[in-house]
Amino acid sequence: MLIAILVISACSDNNAQPAEETDDMDHSTMDHDTMDEHMSHDEVVSLNDSTGENELNIPPMLEPDESDDNQVVYTVRAQTGETEIFDGAKTKTYGYNGAFLGPMLRLEEGKTVKIRTINELDEETTFHWHGLEVAGDADGGPHESLQPGEEELIEFDVTQEASTLWFHPHPEGKTAEQVYNGLAGLIYIEDDNSKSLGLPNVYGENDIPLIFQDKIFDEELQLNFSAAMNDDGTIGDTSLVNGTLNPKLTVNKEKVRLRLLNGSNARNYTLKLNTGDPFVQIATDGGFLNEPVTLEEITLTPSERAEIIIDFSQLDTEKELALVNEDDSILLPFEVSEQGGEESSIPEKMNDFAVSEEELSMPVSKQVELYGMMDQVEINGKKFDPERIDFTQEQGVTEVWEIYNKPDDMGGMIHPFHIHGAQFKILSRDGEEPPENEQGWKDSIAVHPDETVKIAIQFKHKGVYMFHCHILEHEDNGMMGQIKVE
Ligand code: C2O
Ligand code: CU
Ligand code: CU
Repeated sequence: MLIAILVISACSDNNAQPAEETDDMDHSTMDHDTMDEHMSHDEVVSLNDSTGENELNIPPMLEPDESDDNQVVYTVRAQTGETEIFDGAKTKTYGYNGAFLGPMLRLEEGKTVKIRTINELDEETTFHWHGLEVAGDADGGPHESLQPGEEELIEFDVTQEASTLWFHPHPEGKTAEQVYNGLAGLIYIEDDNSKSLGLPNVYGENDIPLIFQDKIFDEELQLNFSAAMNDDGTIGDTSLVNGTLNPKLTVNKEKVRLRLLNGSNARNYTLKLNTGDPFVQIATDGGFLNEPVTLEEITLTPSERAEIIIDFSQLDTEKELALVNEDDSILLPFEVSEQGGEESSIPEKMNDFAVSEEELSMPVSKQVELYGMMDQVEINGKKFDPERIDFTQEQGVTEVWEIYNKPDDMGGMIHPFHIHGAQFKILSRDGEEPPENEQGWKDSIAVHPDETVKIAIQFKHKGVYMFHCHILEHEDNGMMGQIKVE
């Protein structure tokens, strides 16, 4: 067995050592003694290159228990299991309706959804629907904890537009570990618009979800969270996409829609094609962009999503093609079959998202200051207290929040800021209009050190919702507050 010693360099580089690895490495372990420090903000350990030997796993589409024109009923269970991530080895994992990760739930705008949530773990958990606009008591925050063996039926109407959302646990202080162990699933919302745009939509064929996660496996090829855990965000050296190690994706020569989710605890990804060819972004966290935006790379901080389209009929398929990370580590090689696919075009106009003059001129009514690192993280100088309501806002009323990331004496780090129960609009980043590919509905945003982001947010429902840093260890360490919508 090959062992790679990978060092996450601290802010001072007095203990920086080069990473040692070999080409045919199929797994690696990490020397945890080197990790007990503040995560560098500019240098994190690279991910291993995918050898492409395994076809990418596509999460199954969850069959409803019942469905008719008005409603759909699903059962979602959180469970433990064993997964063969490495050939011939069993890794203990968590999953929804399966051993690892979860299925995709397809919801339709206008329908009533009932989900029977069941906790089959031997610890408490919650079922949080990230990005979904639902009442606080269906949102699955830390107050909606289910004990082992407990179940709960939640019900809501789908009142938001087509988008790619996800679900994951949210128990107080245990979110990072449970997500790390494998609890994460997908929600697709479809509406009349998404069905009429003519975008690639054959699930698993030209409409593919990609959940990017990084893990550390110990000598026994287990996910040992307490050993791997870093207070500033657990960063792994091993890339999994949809839970697949060394994945490749086989596609036809056609336009392929990739629904990207950064499902990592803490790692940021900057995704691009190895050839430098451009692709097109069509959707943000919460819906379609008005127009496709051409990009050469896209950065996603934890919990952010984007939908992109790569046109394999236009690429030179003689070359090896892959999705790579910022530092060129190979995350997902593509195998392009000679088969042509459907002829489709990307419509010029996909949505009618707009930021109004009124929203742009509204005064700031809530200020959020993100500060700190490791376990010394806080929002507005406070740590999470389940008994404390930090903000109140009226249902259906738009307010402008200003989010500031206050640097520390080492410069600070990006905090991905997320609000439950609503999709919001970015009004400005440091006073400037946000980039084109952020001019759409968002529920999580990267806030850079010393940056101020203004957003306009309206809650359609009532209840108590969390807002927090989506570096899950920061969240668990108290970088979270509560807003009561009434
Ligand atoms: Cu992904 Cu509190 O959420
Ligand atoms: Cu959320
Ligand atoms: Cu943070």
